[in-house]
Amino acid sequence: MKKVHWGVLGTGKIGVEQVIPAMQVGEYCDMAAIASRKIEKAQATARKLGIPKAYGSYEELLADSDIDAVYIPLPNHLHIPWSIRALEAGKHVLCEKPLGLTATEARQLKDEARKRPRLKVMEAFMYRHHPQWRRARQLVAEGKIGALQTIQSFFSYHNADPGNIRNMAGTGGGGLMDMRMLWRTWRSSRQSSKVPKAGHGSHSGTENRVKREKQPSLMLAAIC
Ligand SMILES: NC(=O)c1ccc[n+]([C@@H]2O[C@H](COP(=O)([O-])OP(=O)(O)OC[C@H]3O[C@@H](n4cnc5c(N)ncnc54)[C@H](OP(=O)(O)O)[C@@H]3O)[C@@H](O)[C@H]2O)c1
Repeated sequence: MKKVHWGVLGTGKIGVEQVIPAMQVGEYCDMAAIASRKIEKAQATARKLGIPKAYGSYEELLADSDIDAVYIPLPNHLHIPWSIRALEAGKHVLCEKPLGLTATEARQLKDEARKRPRLKVMEAFMYRHHPQWRRARQLVAEGKIGALQTIQSFFSYHNADPGNIRNMAGTGGGGLMDMRMLWRTWRSSRQSSKVPKAGHGSHSGTENRVKREKQPSLMLAAIC
């Protein structure tokens, strides 16, 4: 099988520290290029991670005909625009979550993807594939913890930096976009009709609870 030649838009932390090194050990991945708004940053990151090509703009990377697919770890408000530009350049897309800030935005990307059925677009939701979560689902499915009545999850971190993309509305920040969706996607990825349907409780620390009334409570606690 042919290796996929990947390019990365931006030198974001999740890409540089987690995703790129993981992709570099993938059998079918060739990490071929990285782009930054500043060429020096792209070059330094490329040197550090052993990536052969560095570009001083995202446009230049998209114009590289050797690149098959792009990974997009940009701030949230740039996910849809750059995913669409990547499709227009003929590249497959793996874009960080949340794919879009609104359903309308997400539909825009879906429409663009439909025009190009040869190209694949995927949201980078590692939770759906993480062994920890697969194991949690397996335990529930096998009835190892009994009948599922209540799911309680808690996911929080401390980040008080006003300059961080997560804390700025203009870059698509905020608890709902950053953390709450991790919980929601896990819940919606469960097929079982036994999963409680109502949800409430969300604040920027991000705590979400789903509870069925009039049933004994059994807790699946998931702390990441
Ligand atoms: N799937 C997961 O588990 C997971 C985990 C963490 C983060 N994420 C997602 O990954 C994305 C990036 O997160 P991160 O923590 O890696 O972000 P980050 O470290 O702040 O990096 C974002 C990068 O985007 C580029 N950029 C372009 N326009 C920008 C602007 N106006 N302001 C700031 N940066 C800009 C910058 O790269 P250049 O300067 O090189 O162009 C910057 O390094 C977010 O969407 C986040 O939700 C996902």
